[in-house]
Amino acid sequence: MGHADPLIEMEARQNFWMPFSPNKEFKQEPRMFVRGEGVWLYKPDGSQVLDASSGLFCVAAGHCRPEIAQAVFDQLSTLDYTMPFTRAHPKAFELAQRVAQHTPEGLNRVFFTCSGSEAVDSAMKMALAYHRIRGQGHRQLFVSRERAYHGVNMGGVALSGMVNNRRTFGVGMPGVHFMRHTALPENTFVRGQPETGGDLAEDLQRICALVGGDNIAAVFVEPTAGSFGCLPPPVGYLDRIRAICDQHGILLVFDEVITGWGRMGAPFGAQKFGVTPDLLTMAKAITNGAQPMGAIAAKQAIYDTITEAGPAQGIEFFHGYTYSAHPASCAAGLAMMDIFEREGLMERAAEMSPYFLDAVYSLRDLPCLVDIRGIGMMAAIELSTAGQPPGARGHAAQKALYDANLNLKSTGDSLILAPPFVAERAHIDRMVETLRTVLSAY
Ligand SMILES: Cc1ncc(COP(=O)(O)O)c(C=O)c1O
Repeated sequence: MGHADPLIEMEARQNFWMPFSPNKEFKQEPRMFVRGEGVWLYKPDGSQVLDASSGLFCVAAGHCRPEIAQAVFDQLSTLDYTMPFTRAHPKAFELAQRVAQHTPEGLNRVFFTCSGSEAVDSAMKMALAYHRIRGQGHRQLFVSRERAYHGVNMGGVALSGMVNNRRTFGVGMPGVHFMRHTALPENTFVRGQPETGGDLAEDLQRICALVGGDNIAAVFVEPTAGSFGCLPPPVGYLDRIRAICDQHGILLVFDEVITGWGRMGAPFGAQKFGVTPDLLTMAKAITNGAQPMGAIAAKQAIYDTITEAGPAQGIEFFHGYTYSAHPASCAAGLAMMDIFEREGLMERAAEMSPYFLDAVYSLRDLPCLVDIRGIGMMAAIELSTAGQPPGARGHAAQKALYDANLNLKSTGDSLILAPPFVAERAHIDRMVETLRTVLSAY
């Protein structure tokens, strides 16, 4: 399985400006993949690496699914592109219908984007348009949370609760108030939803009291904060947020870019936690990561309000992307819907979750860990800083794990685990064994 290292020449590494990466360090010591199959990624030298984070939470059905590759090839050979404004192709309608079979009751109008970030910014605009049409254009403010990640477009950065994502760009961005995060010291090593912390939802009531609930357009929440490192909602927290939103006429948006499509042990976090938002964003696993795509599922009343307010023969919502509902992405999405349904993939994730969580929590005795959080098929293990700058040990550990043939995403000092749903118990055992071996040195 040998592959020549395509970056043998230092010069060949220079032009690509890598996203969210230590460019200087990577170009000195690249950590690359050249092939994927199932739960495995392959290094240029042919060694097999277990993908413990499904790429970036994308590859729920495992890498290089032939059904998806074939569907994309067939689509690109038949209709590669058509403009999505005032024209369409059948697969866009078909995919919207298939997506709506899995979204929570009533969220049945689906708008396609090319990424999670675009889905978030689109949802912000939907909320503003909806209120304005109903004579509530003064609802211009948004509410988010510390430790939130809502992508990297300017709306999402304004909603961001992670300092490095905003300090360079977000200074002076108006319009967003922040609730506290829900990671409480008494909840370290709690598995699933913590029993305490539900009352932190009262932060929203305090913000309403401060700025006027009738000035707030929408509250954005990840049902389980993902990118920061798996923070499941305390029991009762999301229900209370929903109730406060209803009391003040505020739209509730669940950002399910990571939690959607089975990761929580239900199709969406909304169903897992029994709370229905007004708008729901998704991306990543909708195409198994094989084509870029995001989407917003909107309550029909929001679609109807915006659409009916428009002219009889004109555009109603001045928003969309050149690649919205791209034919190849729709083809990949439809192939993924077939896989979800035919293989019962989301049910499989729910069934595998207890084994996965047992395995991850078995690491609890490692002295370097200060917390483990986990729910569904997602978990984070957090390393102590041990006197080093925050994030330094997490970064080092993530590199050492690649070298030991385990791929995962780190955020700060948290190592995030989210294996593909096709993972077998033996893969999960191997993941935990590698973690134990590497982290024992920490
Ligand atoms: C909750 C959430 N929202 C938005 C995004 C941004 O998605 P993308 O990277 O596809 O733009 C992410 C990405 O991880 C996410 O986790």
